[in-house]
Amino acid sequence: MADKLIIFDTTLRDGEQSPGASMTKDEKLRIARQLERLRVDVIEAGFPASSNGDFEAVTAIANAIKESTVCGLSRANDRDISRAAEALKGATSGRIHTFIATSPLHMEKKLRMSPDEVFEQAKLAVRFARNLVGDVEFSPEDGYRSDVDFLCRVLEAVIHEGATTINVPDTVGYAIPELYGNFIKTLRERIPNSDKAIWSVHCHNDLGMAVANSLAGVKIGGARQVECTINGLGERAGNCSLEEIVMAVKTRKDYFDLDLGIDTRHILAASRMVSQTTGFVVQPNKAVVGANAFAHASGIHQDGVLKARDTYEIMRAEDVGWTANKIVLGKLSGRNAFKQRLQELGVAMESEADINAAFSRFKELADRKSEIFDEDILALVSAEEHSHVAEQFGFVSLSQHSETGERPQARIVFTVHGKEVTSESDGNGPVDASLKAIEAQVKSGAEMVLYSVNAISGSTESQGEVTVRLQNAGRVVNGVGADPDIVVASAKAYLSALNKLQSQAESVAAQG
Ligand code: KIV
Ligand code: ZN
Repeated sequence: MADKLIIFDTTLRDGEQSPGASMTKDEKLRIARQLERLRVDVIEAGFPASSNGDFEAVTAIANAIKESTVCGLSRANDRDISRAAEALKGATSGRIHTFIATSPLHMEKKLRMSPDEVFEQAKLAVRFARNLVGDVEFSPEDGYRSDVDFLCRVLEAVIHEGATTINVPDTVGYAIPELYGNFIKTLRERIPNSDKAIWSVHCHNDLGMAVANSLAGVKIGGARQVECTINGLGERAGNCSLEEIVMAVKTRKDYFDLDLGIDTRHILAASRMVSQTTGFVVQPNKAVVGANAFAHASGIHQDGVLKARDTYEIMRAEDVGWTANKIVLGKLSGRNAFKQRLQELGVAMESEADINAAFSRFKELADRKSEIFDEDILALVSAEEHSHVAEQFGFVSLSQHSETGERPQARIVFTVHGKEVTSESDGNGPVDASLKAIEAQVKSGAEMVLYSVNAISGSTESQGEVTVRLQNAGRVVNGVGADPDIVVASAKAYLSALNKLQSQAESVAAQG
């Protein structure tokens, strides 16, 4: 029988560390449910000691998820580890993931600790965690740039203390596939008790090789766990992408000879959910989940695919969920059909009142747009969730005028702590005028570092989904807004980003 490759998803922890990708508890819970439906083996739900918000999100996920192991990250100290154990109390299967940096650079410059101090702290941390839970993962941060003798000493000691998984991060994305694969192999060969733990790979994508390095860690090094994120979300150039690693191992089973527990038919929905929630748009030519991944534009390819699909297709689009991308509901769809579609999308609404509110938003949208896609439903559910949060700013209405040769004008009404305010401005275009009108009242002083518009379902009739990324006082947030009118979508996205700037609690960065 083939070995199993464990898929450890860290979208909600390492993915969320990407500037602007922070998610609310409800958003994280919805993504965790989708990951469970995808049959991910381990969900790293967050870093409980980093903030109260993250603690609550990990607690909620630990209580809700039954089929996947739920993991909490902690630095290698008793306080962080206790906090992670506390958040995981309700989990059917819980794991503590503790880490400390082991590279000379990180020990000296970041931790200001000697190698012996790091060695002792790693041992004590794993011992402490093992007294609280049976499933403990240890990561030597910046492991790939660590001295191999020192790393062998640390890893042998933490396995002796009871670490059940050893994860070797290429924290800065410096590795090359063959070298990384051999690095894991060397560690496993040199550490006498290496067979007492499962070996795991965790690669960042700074040189575009996170997936290739992870695969080498599996094939050459013998790792049996891969850490990855949906859409490769993550700091800087991101992490190893779940959809790519999973489909590589599945499509090339002849080469890897490994089993996976993943139900790949839910990949696309997971990708869309993460992109829509974080505002990180998926590039059209992205493998597996990009809009063009299965589109055959050239005449020769189309002809070949029509005659026999496998002439140009190595995977079946429906195996990763593409056929689910159909018109699902319309103006005549009833409440039951809507409710069932919510369930199929993994959206759990707390009460019938919430479903009714979302259904009336759906009806409003269906009056303006004849075909409603899954993405539209997810966008309106997310808007519905935000309407429950006592947010500082809320969109009310917008009118704007633009004509060739004239400077566009916008007039917007929005709420500030529930009280309506009206503001007007001109601008280079209608979007610019609308956002300037908001800023004229709010005076946030935030710098816009990204503005992007995406047609949710690919036609001019579709909703425009706008992402606005704002930066202020060292903080970066993304706001997302959707509406068939892209000027309105832009105003909603801007207000959503302002709300996040106001409310985002300070949190401790895992690798800071
Ligand atoms: O990249 C990294 O080193 C990490 C660790 C905390 C596992 O994310
Ligand atoms: Zn990482």
